[in-house]
Amino acid sequence: MTLDFSGKRAIVTGGASGIGKAIADGLRAGGADVHVFDLNGDRAVDVSDPSALEAAFERVPEPDIVIVNAGMGKQAELTATTHELWQRTIDINLTGAFHTVRLAATRMKPRRHGAIVLTASTNSYDGEAMLTAYNASKAGLLGILHTAAGELGPYGIRVNAVCPGLIRTPLTEAHFAQPELLKEYFRDIPLGRGGEAGEVASAVLFLASANASFITGATLLVDGGQMATKFGTWNEDNAEFRTDRWVLR
Ligand code: NAI
Repeated sequence: MTLDFSGKRAIVTGGASGIGKAIADGLRAGGADVHVFDLNGDRAVDVSDPSALEAAFERVPEPDIVIVNAGMGKQAELTATTHELWQRTIDINLTGAFHTVRLAATRMKPRRHGAIVLTASTNSYDGEAMLTAYNASKAGLLGILHTAAGELGPYGIRVNAVCPGLIRTPLTEAHFAQPELLKEYFRDIPLGRGGEAGEVASAVLFLASANASFITGATLLVDGGQMATKFGTWNEDNAEFRTDRWVLR
């Protein structure tokens, strides 16, 4: 499905890879003028550097749509999480997101319209092991989401978030290379598999579009049903795991 973004100007942070790239491609397909802010690419921008980020905003036209998606995650046990890992994760995933939302809202408020979409996570809610810093950063995004939606609604600016589950991207390559791990992980996912970047992009594009005109402050899970049940869905009684997904026999 291609949504209409003709005449819209968009910024996508982390738009050089994975979910962000799929979002940028979708916005372009809908006719938007898209600017990617990423560590990689022609004009590298580190979202954790507030002055570099502000300079990047100054270089592009005032945006109608801002997708706050740049992020990283690195596994470590809580007791092995160094101050450096904690700080880098918070600097990019949370502080970078805060400044992106702030700079976007500053430009959108006088124009009385705009749409901001954050890439949060199922980890905004769940304490997945080995990811203390990541989980804290993604939980923090919900604080930004709720406050920004409340403050910016009167200016016609909508702020929403997607919460993806496990999605196949360069960030999660190592997981997808381990069928035994996937078999156990996907046992608890009603749709029996991981997601593709395009499936997250579809949800983001909807929230950014005029089709979501009465939606703000919302989180949309894009997780194959993972957060709906803690009781497990798939087992060998009537199903089997084939390469990367569970299927009924
Ligand atoms: P990815 O690694 O493919 O893409 C992330 C992009 O962000 C890269 O292009 C990278 O260069 C950029 N980036 C990282 N640090 C940056 C910085 N300091 N400044 C500017 N750009 C920076 O990863 P993926 O999976 O596409 O992740 C996108 C977002 O989705 C992240 O916020 C991630 O936490 C979130 N997410 C991913 C899930 C998954 O299973 N892949 C699940 C839930 C959320």
